[in-house]
Amino acid sequence: MAKAFAKISFTPSVVKIQKQHGSDKVYSKFLAPDAQGGDQLSEGEAEFIGARDSFYQASASKDGWPYVQYRGGPAGFLKVLDAKTLAYADFRGNRQYISAGNMSENDRVSLILVDYPNRRRLKIWARARLVSLEDNPELVASLHDESYRARPMRAVILSLEAFDWNCPQHIHPRFTRAELEPYVGDLHAQIADLQAKNQSLKTKLSKRI
Ligand SMILES: Cc1cc2nc3c(=O)[nH]c(=O)nc-3n(C[C@H](O)[C@H](O)[C@H](O)COP(=O)(O)O)c2cc1C
Repeated sequence: MAKAFAKISFTPSVVKIQKQHGSDKVYSKFLAPDAQGGDQLSEGEAEFIGARDSFYQASASKDGWPYVQYRGGPAGFLKVLDAKTLAYADFRGNRQYISAGNMSENDRVSLILVDYPNRRRLKIWARARLVSLEDNPELVASLHDESYRARPMRAVILSLEAFDWNCPQHIHPRFTRAELEPYVGDLHAQIADLQAKNQSLKTKLSKRI
């Protein structure tokens, strides 16, 4: 954990409750004048982000209502452009435009990215900027994988404010179909082999009877 995350998240009311529970001593060091970091992505974060095929994104309306929405796409669709910038192509969906509307009046967003098989999660705070397809088709195209079945509507450019790695607690390992395929493929091969052996034994047995 580093300063950038603590500066955003440890508000006076948060610190007040930390004090009530005695955890403020552990966390106050992250707000100390000499504390630093947590506002630039390293290779490790970039690699983790590049492998994700989904994330959850929280935006908030002007009057503070949070709104969490799922974003999914081909692995690596959330791109790390540099240590302080991320971007993704936002797809056409139910045309409610809640996230886009929220981001247009309140640029603060929070993302959580989860690697379920390895039980790792990364939280990100950023300021979002929307660039429409009409305004910059090249930018949107550069963020979109043509082979993925979706219609991009805009680019969402995220200027990183902070990130923090979470502990693995309570993350239940889950696997996508593609992640399971190597294991399921082996099982199918074993079943086919056993079925063939079984059939051959049955044939031999019927010849003896
Ligand atoms: C026809 C259609 C219906 C959808 N209905 C829903 C829905 O009822 N609830 C929902 O959360 N997402 C729904 N989705 C997916 C969302 O549209 C998609 O996640 C979109 O990015 C949401 O944008 P938002 O962040 O502004 O909510 C639907 C998508 C399509 C194409």
